[in-house]
Amino acid sequence: MDPMLNMAVRAARAAGDLIMRYLDRVDTLHITAKSRNDFVSEVDKQAEQEIVNILHKAYPQHGFLGEEGGRQGFGKSEYTWVIDPLDGTTNFLHGFPAFCVSIALLHRDRIECGVIYDPLRQELFTAKRGGGAMLDNRRLRVTKQLVFEGALLGTGFPFKEQSNNDAYFGMFRDLMKDAAGVRRAGSAALDLAYVACGRLDGFWEIGLMPWDIAAGILLIQEAGGIVTDFEEGDKLFETGNILGANPKLHALMYETIAPHVTDSLRFNG
Ligand code: IPD
Ligand code: CA
Ligand code: CA
Repeated sequence: MDPMLNMAVRAARAAGDLIMRYLDRVDTLHITAKSRNDFVSEVDKQAEQEIVNILHKAYPQHGFLGEEGGRQGFGKSEYTWVIDPLDGTTNFLHGFPAFCVSIALLHRDRIECGVIYDPLRQELFTAKRGGGAMLDNRRLRVTKQLVFEGALLGTGFPFKEQSNNDAYFGMFRDLMKDAAGVRRAGSAALDLAYVACGRLDGFWEIGLMPWDIAAGILLIQEAGGIVTDFEEGDKLFETGNILGANPKLHALMYETIAPHVTDSLRFNG
């Protein structure tokens, strides 16, 4: 395995172990709300610190962009680790079994490798640019689902920022119409890993952050899928809007959501 990917795996497993040690005593945790419906616990913070410690020791010059610690630079390196130490915090705090650790490495703006680790199922999703996507030792491919009939889609509800609700629920109504089902499991990173491995045929969500999606984007791309913003562009980190699926289903999903895409969902940089 690529040495940097290997180090990311080590960090993700360490964070996953820490998360699991707290799972039975969630009621003793100190929890604060960063903003409306956006909770953080000491587990999120400790898990991120664990990841940063491991990666910083291995790569002292690399920078970090973590959900809890923000941006930290240590040298002139063009590498940045993008970290969500616990994606699905609300699930974790309720004992609802869908959460993961997500780590990606950016070289300038390009995602070079990504790891998503589900500590409950001990499933490790990895991707290396140009090297494919894997679930443990198995090579991943997105599904060959070509139509909405029979398709299982994933999404996330805009429960924090609700100003785009009309647009979102318009998309939801039209995508749900012919699909076999729509799932909202509560961990965007895990949802993206599930598109890469074919458990979901497609996924869309509004207003995500780079740490929610960086590793998942590469996983889907390396599994043969397409990931774009809501204008079929690559401004995913800038807009936070994401649409991922196999190429044919992506085109169909894009056609369906396009009439609902308002100016506030477009890239205006
Ligand atoms: C959240 C989860 C959720 C998504 C939210 C994210 P967090 O991440 O990925 O599925 O709908 O928008 O913020 O806060 O649990 O790391
Ligand atoms: Ca997250
Ligand atoms: Ca998080």
